[in-house]
Parts: sequence; structure tokens; C-alpha cells
Amino acid sequence: MTETSDSDVSHENYNFTDVNRAKYDYAGSGSEEDFSKYLLDRMRQLESRNSNLKEQCDQIESEKRFVESQKLKYEREVRRLQAEIERLKTVPLVVATIMDVVGENRILVRSSTGPQFMVNVSQYLDEDKLVPGAKVALNQQTLAIVELIPSSEDPAVSAMEVVTSQDVDYADIGGLKEQIQELIESVELPLTKPESFTRIGISPPKGVLLYGEPGTGKTLLAKAVAHRTDATFIRIVGSELVQKYIGDGSKLVRDLFEMARKKSPSIVFIDELDAIASRRLNDANGADREVQRTLMQLLAEMDGFEIRGDICIVAATNRLDVLDPAILRPGRFDRIVNVPMPDEDARVNILKVHTRFMNLADDVDFDKLARMTDTTSGADLNAIVMEAGMLAVRYDKESVGMSEFVDSVNKVLSKIEKKQEVLPEGMFG
Ligand SMILES: Nc1ncnc2c1ncn2[C@@H]1O[C@H](COP(=O)(O)OP(=O)(O)O)[C@@H](O)[C@H]1O
Ligand SMILES: [Mg+2]
Repeated sequence: MTETSDSDVSHENYNFTDVNRAKYDYAGSGSEEDFSKYLLDRMRQLESRNSNLKEQCDQIESEKRFVESQKLKYEREVRRLQAEIERLKTVPLVVATIMDVVGENRILVRSSTGPQFMVNVSQYLDEDKLVPGAKVALNQQTLAIVELIPSSEDPAVSAMEVVTSQDVDYADIGGLKEQIQELIESVELPLTKPESFTRIGISPPKGVLLYGEPGTGKTLLAKAVAHRTDATFIRIVGSELVQKYIGDGSKLVRDLFEMARKKSPSIVFIDELDAIASRRLNDANGADREVQRTLMQLLAEMDGFEIRGDICIVAATNRLDVLDPAILRPGRFDRIVNVPMPDEDARVNILKVHTRFMNLADDVDFDKLARMTDTTSGADLNAIVMEAGMLAVRYDKESVGMSEFVDSVNKVLSKIEKKQEVLPEGMFG
């Protein structure tokens, strides 16, 4: 095709100059007729080229529209990512709990990391909501209260956990035969066969306190006894209570027992009682006072409810020596049950319980393993079994063999030793 200039395309009709130019281009020696034919040909050529270019133009237009839509999309993405970067760059806020409102805009808070601060308040916050116990967020630098953290529903209700069914049974517990027997007599029977007690004319026990070093199976025992009865199982954990719900402790205890009554028969399980019932409250600041109030309320409720055998209290503590003597007064916990570290036989049993569903090699010798694990708790033995299983997976074995168990025992034992080194004397490891 011949080269055409822009004007050839944009003008539909040839004017006089164009004709002259065409004549000049043609420069043929033919007749006028040949020239007309030439012009017609040329016109058709240019027309088809014109429509061609129009098509291309349409195509480019649509491509442009597509690119523009892409551009919008990417711009949105960029804005989103920029916002994300901003969000990640802003300083974190410190979570704190209000302990006391001291004066105009002066508030005493305890930060979640421990220390207490006297802080200012942003003027945009609702003063009525700044009450002791409320959760707030502090600016990290100025420590001023910048935000109120909404309480998740009713904090009292969420602090206790109503567990409908427990999947732990006595068979899942290694050793601890006497302790299980104690729980059967003092918790299971009063709840499942209250008439046996009335027939004989004795009042069923009100509460059982389990004590023993961490990881010896106290929580496990409480869950297993709950599994045996159809009672509502309400669990509160002392340490969580202390950390999260200062300011609302006594209300929580009231709610707890109210719910236990409403949903009776029920088992109220107070785990880690030492966290709330410790007598070492020499530094009596607001938070500790609150813990003390919670404890007093707990004791009052325990004294208060009638023994009809439809509510039973089970508590667990790692340390008996730090408990407030008041909690051990007769009439509160009828039975105080020691949950000891497992002896050799118990260790064999615990190892068997935890390897029930494992593919074991023939060379696994539980007696030997029990002899090697003199100072371990049930929780440590559980960790040993898990670790041995992981090793077998790592080596891509068909089953867990003795060598994996021995390696795992050594690993867990050295961990326990390290832990004991850092803990001050007299503490349980
Ligand atoms: N006697 C036991 N038999 C079987 N497993 C146990 C035993 N004691 C502890 N464990 C294991 O250790 C874990 C922690 O035990 P837990 O009952 O929470 O200890 P505690 O409440 O006394 O600190 C349990 O989930 C269980 O796997
Ligand atoms: Mg426990």
C-alpha cells in the first residue's frame, strides 16, 4: 500500500489540490479514463484504510478503558496498603484497668503489665464510664487514657465457664486411685445418690480441696468427676480472675453461686484457688483489696448455702501453705485431698494412658522409663510421650520406639532441671 499522509485519511472528499496532487502522483501517460479509474481505486483503498483505522481506534479505546479500570483497582489497592502501613506504624496502646478515680481528670490505673500509673484522661471520653474496674487503653508515651475498651458482654458471666460435657474419665487418669475414691464419695455420690445420705442420716460433704504440685492431675480429677455426674460443671480459674476482673470479683462470686443454684445439681470448680486465696496480701493496694473482697465473698457463699447435696464445690490449689487459714476452717472444705507426684507405678500407668492410641514398637519398656523419670509430674510425662511421638514423625518411623522415648525423657528432664534453677527456693517447679 502507498504511504498516505494524515490529510488523506481525515478528508472524505478530494478537493482541487488533492486532485492535482493525485495527478502528480499518478504521473502516468494514460488517458483521462485511466486516470479516473486510478482515482476510484485510490478512493476505495483509502476508504478501507479509513475503516481499518477506525476499528483499531475502537480497539485502542476499549483497551484504554480496561487499563483505566485496572488503574483504579491498583490505586485502591495502594490506598489500602498505605492505610495498613499507617495502622502498623501507629504506636500500640497499653491496656489498663481503672483502680480509682482520684480527682478531676486524674485516674489511678493498673496497666496490664503490672505497674500502676496516675494518668490524665482524653476529654472526649464519657466520664460516667470511667469507673473502677473499667478497662481502658493508654497512649504509650503520655499514658493518658485515650479509649474505653468495651466490656465483652457481662464480664462476670464470661469469667466462668459452664462446661456441659467433659471428655475426661477416671480411666484417663494414671495412678491417683485413692484420690478418685475420695472424689467418688464426696462429690459423685452426693450428686447422683443424695438419698443414700439422707437414709443414713448424714449430711453430704460440701466441698473438696485438692492440693498438690502443678501438673499432678488436679484439674483432670475435677473434670473426670464432672463427667461421671450429670451435674452442671461451672469452672472459674483463680489466676484469670485476678488478672482480668478486678473490680467485679464479689459480683462474680455472687453470680457464680446463683447460677449454681439455678442449674443445680452442679459442681463449682474453683481452679488455682491460691491465686485468689493467698494470705500474702501485705501490699494492700486497690487490686489486692479487691481480691480479698472476692475471697471473703466466696467464703460467705460457702458458709451460706444449704447442704442439700445439689451443689458441690471442688477447688484446686498448687500451694496449701499460702492459703488464707480462713478458707481451711471446718465446714468449708470437708475434705482436703493431697494429689502427690506420681510414684513409679503411677508413672507406668500415666505413660500407658497417654500412649493408648499410639503405635508403639515392641522394645518400649514402660517400667524402665518410669525408673528414669523420678521427678516428673503427670504433665511432664504427657510432654515426654508427645515429644517421643514427634521424634518418630521426624524420623519418618512406622512406630514410636524406645530410643525416641529415651531421647525425649532426657530432653524433658533437662528442661525441668533448668526451670528449677531459675525458680527461687521453696517454689514448686
Ligand atoms: N495422673 C495423671 N494421669 C494422666 N495424665 C495426667 C495426670 N496428671 C497430669 N496429667 C497430664 O497433665 C496435664 C495437666 O494436668 P492438670 O490436671 O492440669 O494438672 P494440675 O491441675 O494438677 O496442675 C493433663 O492434661 C494430663 O495430660
Ligand atoms: Mg490445674
